[in-house]
Amino acid sequence: MEKQEIRTFGRRHGKKISTRQQWLVDNLLPTMTAKNNEKSMPIILEIGFGSGEHLRELAIQNPDKIIIGAEPFINGVASLLSSITNESDNHIKPEFKNILIWPDDVRKIIKKDSTDFLPILFSEIYVLHPDPWPKVRHEKRRLLNSDFLNLLSQRLTSDGKIIIGTDHHEYYDWILQQLKTTNLKINTTDIEIIKTKYQQKNKANTKNPKYLILSVK
Ligand SMILES: C[S@@+](CC[C@H](N)C(=O)[O-])C[C@H]1O[C@@H](n2cnc3c(N)ncnc32)[C@H](O)[C@@H]1O
Repeated sequence: MEKQEIRTFGRRHGKKISTRQQWLVDNLLPTMTAKNNEKSMPIILEIGFGSGEHLRELAIQNPDKIIIGAEPFINGVASLLSSITNESDNHIKPEFKNILIWPDDVRKIIKKDSTDFLPILFSEIYVLHPDPWPKVRHEKRRLLNSDFLNLLSQRLTSDGKIIIGTDHHEYYDWILQQLKTTNLKINTTDIEIIKTKYQQKNKANTKNPKYLILSVK
């Protein structure tokens, strides 16, 4: 990503992480970055995985696929690392060996002009509860604008799909508008609720999540 992008996420660091988590960030994370992917298996991308609950589920449900998680919030990355490793020896649990992590802005690995660009296609791309940036003056920070959606469409396999979920219905309607200038079509909006930490934490206060499953026209 050569030109400076508008920031679409909030904090990169939260409260101080534990000594074990810091060890995992310093020692394990460099061995698991998405850059190390050399296997020719279908690849699923989850953008903004938070603490990684849904990412872990994806890894368990898809042992024959690589799961790449992108998340710039280091505390989230540290939570994921501690939950996929044994406390006794810090080794990755067998069911999570198919996880790779990109601990930064996802645009750096999907934009062709970026030095970190990964020339790979994804069979599924999940974006669950992207930051809604509800204030009008922050709208430009919304990740799922038409440019970004077009970028994602170029990174899909021919039968690939993008799965989007948000409980912010105004953002949902905004995404529908953005889609009009993309080469993506809506396959369905009718799917079961996908559980994530954000969705569980907020379900009492927000509307039911709405979903979009997209593919290339
Ligand atoms: C509201 S949280 C939802 C987290 C999780 N998906 C869940 O549902 O629990 C949105 C997440 O997207 C991440 N995010 C925002 N912009 C991003 C970007 N450009 N690349 C990767 N992740 C991003 C944020 O850091 C944040 O953790």
